[in-house]
Amino acid sequence: MVREQLRDGHGRDIGDVRVSVTDRCNFRCQYCMPADGLPWLEREEILSFEEIGRLVGLLASMGVGSVRLTGGEPLVRRDLPRLAKLLRSTPGVEELALTTNGYLLERHAAALVGAGVDRFNVSIDSLQRDRFYALTRRDALPQVLRGLAALAALPQAHPVKVNAVGIRGFTETEAIPFARFAREHDYEVRFIEFMPLDADRSWDAGQVLTGEEIRAAIEAEHPLVPCPRERHSTARVYRFADGRGRIGFVNPVSEPFCADCNRIRLTADGRLRTCLFSLGETDLRGPLREGADDDELERIVRAAVWRKELKHRVNEPGFVQPERTMSAIGG
Ligand code: 5AD
Ligand code: SF4
Repeated sequence: MVREQLRDGHGRDIGDVRVSVTDRCNFRCQYCMPADGLPWLEREEILSFEEIGRLVGLLASMGVGSVRLTGGEPLVRRDLPRLAKLLRSTPGVEELALTTNGYLLERHAAALVGAGVDRFNVSIDSLQRDRFYALTRRDALPQVLRGLAALAALPQAHPVKVNAVGIRGFTETEAIPFARFAREHDYEVRFIEFMPLDADRSWDAGQVLTGEEIRAAIEAEHPLVPCPRERHSTARVYRFADGRGRIGFVNPVSEPFCADCNRIRLTADGRLRTCLFSLGETDLRGPLREGADDDELERIVRAAVWRKELKHRVNEPGFVQPERTMSAIGG
C-alpha cells in the first residue's frame, strides 16, 4: 500500500530514516560514551526485528525509502544480516546503508552485502594505533582495518566511506594521513564536525575542528576539486585534482544544513526522533505493542513529523544538549 508522502510542517519531504538497532557498543569513544559504558536497555525494551520491519515498512509506504542501520554499534546485535534482508525486501525501501565502527566487519562484511546492504560507513578517527586506542579506549585499529579491507574486497560494497570526527587538538595531525589513505585505497574519507552529543557533556564550540580548517590543510598539500553536490547530501565532497580518491566534509556546526534535512530517527527502544538534537521524542513501541493498526501508527508518525524542528540551535545561547548521547540516538 502506498500512502501519502511524509512531510513536516516546514514543507520538507522526509525520505530517510536512521534506525538504531542497539544502544550497546564494543567501543567507548571519548566523545560518545563514558569508560564504563552506559546503563543499557533491557532486552524487552528493544524493538524486535519484526517490530522494526513493521515500522520501517510503514515509513517506506510514506516515501521514506532510504534506511540506515546504526547503534550503538549495530554489528553487536545478533543476526543483523537477517534484519538487513528483511528490510531490503520491504516494499518502498530503495536503499539500505549501515554505519559501523568496523570491529566486527571482518566476520560479517560478506553476509551483510549478501543480505542487501548497499552502502557502508566505517568510523575511524585516527590512523595511528596508539591514538586510536586513546580515543576509542580499545586497541582495535588493526582489527578495524582488516574489516575495512574485507569490505573493500567486495565490489558491491563500493564506494566505501570512512568517517572521522573533527576534534580540535586531535584531528589536526590526522588530516594529511587520511588524505593519503583516501588516495591510496579509493575510500571516501569524510570529516564530521564534533557535535554536542557527548556523554560527559564537556562539548564546547572551541573543541570543534571545522571542516573548512581541515579542507584548507589538505588543499595545501593535495589540490582539491569540488564534486557536484548531491541532493540531501550533508557532505561537501571533493576529489583530488591529480588522482583517485575523494574527501568529504560534513559541517553540521559551522554550516548547518537543516533547511534541506529530510531525516528522522528511530531509537532502539522504538522512539521517533525528528532531529539529532530533539529534546522530546514520540513513543511508537507502546502503541505498536498495544496493537495499533497501521492507520493509527501513521497518524502518530505524521503528527510527530509535522512538528519536526526547523533547525538545530547548537550555535545559539541557551542551547540545551539532549539527554541521550549519540550512542543512544544512532548517528
Ligand atoms: N559528534 C560527531 N560525531 C559523532 N559520532 C559519535 N558521537 C559524535 C559526536 N559527538 C559519530 C561516530 C560515528 C557516527 C555514528 O557518529 O564517530 O561515525
Ligand atoms: Fe561506539 Fe560509535 Fe559511540 Fe564510538 S562513537 S562508543 S563506536 S557508538
